[in-house]
Amino acid sequence: MFVISYARFCPIPYRPMKLQKLFRRAVEIGIEADPRGKKEVEKALKKYKDKQKKLEGKEKELFDEERTWNPYSDSRILWGTGDEDITHIMVGIDIETQEFLLADRLRERGKKIDCILIHHPEGRALADLDKVMPLQVAVYEQAGVPVNHSESLLRPRMDRIWRAIHADNLFRSERAAELLNIPAFGAHTITDNLVWQFMEKTVCSKKYDDLTEIVNALQDIPEYAYYAKKGNPPIIVNGSGGNKPGKLVATEFTGGTNGPEDFIEKQSHAGVGTILAMHFTEKEVEEGKKHHINMIQCSHMASDAIGINLLLDKLSKEEKKLSTLDVSGFIRVQRK
Ligand SMILES: [Fe+2]
Ligand SMILES: [Fe+2]
Repeated sequence: MFVISYARFCPIPYRPMKLQKLFRRAVEIGIEADPRGKKEVEKALKKYKDKQKKLEGKEKELFDEERTWNPYSDSRILWGTGDEDITHIMVGIDIETQEFLLADRLRERGKKIDCILIHHPEGRALADLDKVMPLQVAVYEQAGVPVNHSESLLRPRMDRIWRAIHADNLFRSERAAELLNIPAFGAHTITDNLVWQFMEKTVCSKKYDDLTEIVNALQDIPEYAYYAKKGNPPIIVNGSGGNKPGKLVATEFTGGTNGPEDFIEKQSHAGVGTILAMHFTEKEVEEGKKHHINMIQCSHMASDAIGINLLLDKLSKEEKKLSTLDVSGFIRVQRK
């Protein structure tokens, strides 16, 4: 006699992913691509948990519990209980009140939008942007810059970013999301880690005769090709097309925001010949000229779109019905 399992004839009913699960998965994906490596990230999280145990009074009250499991202070759920079913996501690079209104109008016309994925931080994620910057030490270490140099240069820059953001009107978009009741979550360094890893593996690991060849290789990547056609191609901002690239790095793709300008000189001393970036500040370009570093600015929005696409590709493997609506600079490109 054999027993036929009932379960074989009774497939598990489909249940969409909940917002909280989707966001937790996004954090895990960010950690897998983190320049510090998974072990170092876990160590940092443990330190934070240990710190929590010792807190008292006001410090205990104001402690951000999120930091005990999510190492990305610039990425978090902006609005929502976490229990919302998510299959239709509106995705944009900059999402502010106008995009929440757009989502609301589209919903009124019958468009399904379960939540919004935001890239550039809003709300608490913006307030804490500086706190993700220490990750840059690992990025520059891989380019050959000693950690002691990066750490001491980074601190004053982090303080400046903290003070500048501190004066901002931080919670406008959050309030718009709340009033219109549109769940939203932010993934900033999460997807920037993915594009950093992608650039290092698929662009920097190859050999090129000159800078023009790098620009052409970048334009073979669909997001850069799309933006190039619209008049926003990768551009050489220091050096000329015929220059030899030397050691090629993608140091300006993750870590919250641009690091201190002194990092350009440090990279020059570490033997870097060409830097790829989402964007350079004018001061960085000046430093590049002084220290003979070739610089290619790859298109900010196209670069951010690559990172978001890599995240969505991974999330789509787990939530098969995931669909996106592209807004605010984002274009969906699926990779196998
Ligand atoms: Fe970004
Ligand atoms: Fe960006």
